[in-house]
Amino acid sequence: MARAPFITFEGIEGAGKTTLAQQFADWLEAQGVSVVRTREPGGGELGKQLRPIILHQPLDAYTELFLLLADRRQHTLEVILPALRQGIWVVCDRYADSTLMYQGYGRGLDLELLRQLNTIATSGLQPDLTVLIDLPVEIALARANAPNRFEAESIEFHQRIREGYLQEASLAPHRYLVLNGLEPLESLLTQLQAVVCARFPLG
Ligand code: TYD
Repeated sequence: MARAPFITFEGIEGAGKTTLAQQFADWLEAQGVSVVRTREPGGGELGKQLRPIILHQPLDAYTELFLLLADRRQHTLEVILPALRQGIWVVCDRYADSTLMYQGYGRGLDLELLRQLNTIATSGLQPDLTVLIDLPVEIALARANAPNRFEAESIEFHQRIREGYLQEASLAPHRYLVLNGLEPLESLLTQLQAVVCARFPLG
């Protein structure tokens, strides 16, 4: 691989991906791997200003989309690609798949349009591995603890997103690792470590 691995974490709110991403990055560092930990929205300089707007201000669906894409493009160009090119692993909490799921499956925007816009926003960069934590919506939402506009949406909205993730994961089984979010975090981390050790050289 000409660049370091790019690993993303996805799932509905409350799935536990932020905690798993942190523990995974801690483990990578303990193996001597250099890691950049980042997230969307809000991973880059522009994103720091956009994040509170995206999460809390009432927005038209396309306005929301354009802000997310602007955030993603700057984040990709300024943070993610430079790190990967220097051989630094990037662990990112949400990335382009979140747009496909939330703005596409969730809000009903055209999936093909979103795929095209994501390709522009990411300069064609795709994660080498996407960890999807899957669990029932009712259980996940009961765990979610940082209220935002998305969490306040209906159960059906989150259900469509969950199904969207599973559908997209079935279309790209090599890229997605689907983990059962009902299992304890230690078990998810162990499964992830095994896949990563088998697929990427750590040293
Ligand atoms: P965040 O507090 O990071 O939630 P979580 O802990 O679930 O990751 O808020 C991010 C929210 O932004 C989340 O509700 C999903 C939404 N989102 C989109 O709708 N589209 C996107 O492309 C991204 C990156 C996030």
